[in-house]
Amino acid sequence: MAIADKYEALIQTDRIHGSLYTDEKIFDEEMEAIFYRSWVFVGHASELPNAGDYLTRDIGRRSVIMARDQNGGIGVMANRCQHRGNMLCNQQRGNARNFACPYHGWIYDLQGNLLDVPYRQGFKRDFANMGLETLKTEIYRGFVFSTFNPDAVAFADYLGRGFELIDRACDLSPEGEIVLEGGWMRHHFDANWKMMPENDTDGYHVSFTHRSMMQSLESQYDEFAGDEAKMPGEVRDWGNGHTEIDFTSGYRRPLAWLGTTAEKVPEYVRSLEQAYGEEVAKKRLFDGPPHAAIFPNLFLGEMNIVIFQPVSATTSIQWATPMFLKGARELDFRLLRQCEGALGPSSFLLADDASIAERSQKALLSGTPWCDLSRGLEREKHNEDGVMAGHMTDETSNRGFWNHYKRIMTAS
Ligand code: FES
Ligand code: FE
Repeated sequence: MAIADKYEALIQTDRIHGSLYTDEKIFDEEMEAIFYRSWVFVGHASELPNAGDYLTRDIGRRSVIMARDQNGGIGVMANRCQHRGNMLCNQQRGNARNFACPYHGWIYDLQGNLLDVPYRQGFKRDFANMGLETLKTEIYRGFVFSTFNPDAVAFADYLGRGFELIDRACDLSPEGEIVLEGGWMRHHFDANWKMMPENDTDGYHVSFTHRSMMQSLESQYDEFAGDEAKMPGEVRDWGNGHTEIDFTSGYRRPLAWLGTTAEKVPEYVRSLEQAYGEEVAKKRLFDGPPHAAIFPNLFLGEMNIVIFQPVSATTSIQWATPMFLKGARELDFRLLRQCEGALGPSSFLLADDASIAERSQKALLSGTPWCDLSRGLEREKHNEDGVMAGHMTDETSNRGFWNHYKRIMTAS
């Protein structure tokens, strides 16, 4: 069967086939089509404040280096020496003047240009084009996205209306910028990577999977349980695989999303009012950050930034760090503790969602071939702003993810 026909058959309007989570061949095809030929999130500019700062990340199964060069520019390159392919950087992060290969000592600068080759006389080759493979890279409000594919669609076409979601996060800072300085927590999941973006914008599970959290503490999610007809909030399909749960209509006061009140963070409120005017600040303080997944591997998880890293069809790693706000650093401690409380090793949300993902993964091997995705198909509709939206508990967001996934997999 041709590849396109295979994905047409596996992803239907109201259901998807379980093999999408378990088949290693499908995983390999995803790596090619999604992680190597399309755009992915790599990191944030604030992670590299100084010239020479670098970090390493995996895009799919490939390791890359993201570095800030001496001119202040940020580039992303394959973490692979052009001589015999050794990995250049083993560290998760650091500061360097250049990158020296540990195998035979070839040296590259911070932009990936080859600077030096030891014992050159033995070579009869031209070294002019032997720099590191550099990835096409675009930065939007500090969010660094890259692709291995020089012919990938334009960045604006990839991100689509995802710009609006990133804006909503950054606009909570009086200076319009977020800062990722809290360090990353990494959690290994015995589950397929797609379960993470799916779960993160699934409004149906909140009052079941997270019931123990709701019973034991007060949180911004308390309004999203109970009577279906009265439940506030909605799920959204922003197009391009980007999806959201919008909790705004369930908030009862400003800063509910931060678990606090204006009286407790007066400096933040004042600085936001000074930066944007009272009216705009008031709306932002009420609405709060997005709870949105940017296809394929970034989650704007309210005041946390999360990366989904696929490892194999049945394993993945989730990265999480608090989203600090430039110009409002007095919130750092609160945000760090909230990130640990939601996504740390003994947190409420992560443990719930991880165990659900691992249970799903295991159960998929027990012979249930199809997963239903029909909830709310008849009642979803476009909002005034053109975004497809459904009831808080509907599967509009999940269908949005899978429709886009199918488009990419069939196009390839
Ligand atoms: Fe890097 Fe030989 S593999 S110098
Ligand atoms: Fe959850």
